[in-house]
Amino acid sequence: SKGAALVTAVAQRLASQKRKVDETLSPFRLSHEQLQLVKARMRAGLEAGLKRKGSTAIKMLPSFVYRTPDGTEHGKYLALDLGGTNFRALLVNFKKGLQQNTRLHHKIYTIPLEIMQGTGEELFDHIVQCISDFLDYMGMKNARLPLGFTFSFPCRQTSLDAGILVTWTKGFKATDCEGEDVVGLLREAIKRREEFDLDVVAVVNDTVGTMMTCAYEEPTCEIGLIAGTGSNACYMEEMRNIEMIEGDEGRMCVNMEWGAFGDNGCLDDIRTEYDRAVDDFSLNPGKQRYEKMCSGMYLGEIVRNILIDMTKRGFLFRGQISETLKTRGIFETKFLSQIESDRLALLQVRSILQHLGLDSTCDDSIIVKEVCGTVSHRAAQLCGAGMAAVVDKIRENRGLDHLNITVGVDGTLYKLHPHFSRIMHQTVNELAPQCNVNFLLSEDGSGKGAALITAVGCRLRQELNN
Ligand code: GLC
Repeated sequence: SKGAALVTAVAQRLASQKRKVDETLSPFRLSHEQLQLVKARMRAGLEAGLKRKGSTAIKMLPSFVYRTPDGTEHGKYLALDLGGTNFRALLVNFKKGLQQNTRLHHKIYTIPLEIMQGTGEELFDHIVQCISDFLDYMGMKNARLPLGFTFSFPCRQTSLDAGILVTWTKGFKATDCEGEDVVGLLREAIKRREEFDLDVVAVVNDTVGTMMTCAYEEPTCEIGLIAGTGSNACYMEEMRNIEMIEGDEGRMCVNMEWGAFGDNGCLDDIRTEYDRAVDDFSLNPGKQRYEKMCSGMYLGEIVRNILIDMTKRGFLFRGQISETLKTRGIFETKFLSQIESDRLALLQVRSILQHLGLDSTCDDSIIVKEVCGTVSHRAAQLCGAGMAAVVDKIRENRGLDHLNITVGVDGTLYKLHPHFSRIMHQTVNELAPQCNVNFLLSEDGSGKGAALITAVGCRLRQELNN
């Protein structure tokens, strides 16, 4: 009958659509073996970075932070936090012996795109303008406070308070900063303004700040992880293994800059055509390849590229590529998080897409949800494979069969996404069965951590002067 023929035709169309979706997404579905390979390559890459004969993809930058906090830190410190989702100024007050009683005030500022990508002088003048506003707000303009600068980009440090920006990452591209000491740039901008004085004590990567904040409450925390706009980790490495720093005693925290993993081509076999497209059209083509597969700034772009391709091939959005879909950056982490939330009915997924200007059928919204889920699943697995390499490295450093360790974590992807953290934990457990890895969420990690490091830095300076 006609009816039966129609049903068959619809069923065939759906089956063929499903096959095409599966085909498109299959390169994103990594096997256990592939994840083990990623772990092994991360391990090889980090070892090469520690040896550093010539430049390596994973830079393994020394932080000049030698130990985690001991709880005796006290006093008032200013902190700046640049490089995450928000730019913030903070005032942190540590009370002696009272870990629970840290007082923290902060204010969020925006950095307009034209400043992120303008001149270095404009960027640093803007930062100092925000500090000025914050000091007014706190009524502390005349205090000459010690300041810790969380600057979440790769910096080659020669001391706690000097760091040369190797290269911008994420959305920043201000001129005349690469190759310069960012503490110097900040001090010059403060001088130019002739309004207040500050004592810049430390420049700190956000991973290091996060590790320190968590270590303040949990001494087994010796790793910091950011899964947010960018992706990166740091950990306490043995001094004897860090070849660019003299001395063999004790440990130092190393900012891995693992986002650049794969920049030498070692992940090419698992990168998809969509990863390559995202990379090609980014601000920094060829750089931060691992980060572009697993951090918040890029996941939405991978999704968008897949959706465009599916639409071109005619099995999504009725084959119509809308202006919205052509717009870079439309899928922010918060959209992925919403779309993938289990509590959300398909109708709501459709309404989110509608909101973005994407006119979808019910089938479309099922496909979009599956694309988002697949891309973020791979991101969490890749991040977990990287972390598995780090915990096993620490375990071997210490000659242990079994290691208990805590990772301090921060970042919007980790905090807001409904599945990322769980899949990441699971992957670490599977790939590093000899480690018992505990994850601790940090609140205000990078800012508070910079203040802690500043406190330690001030104390060391006093000890040296006495
Ligand atoms: C980028 C930066 C790195 C930072 C990370 C997370 O990878 O290069 O320094 O830690 O983003 O914010």
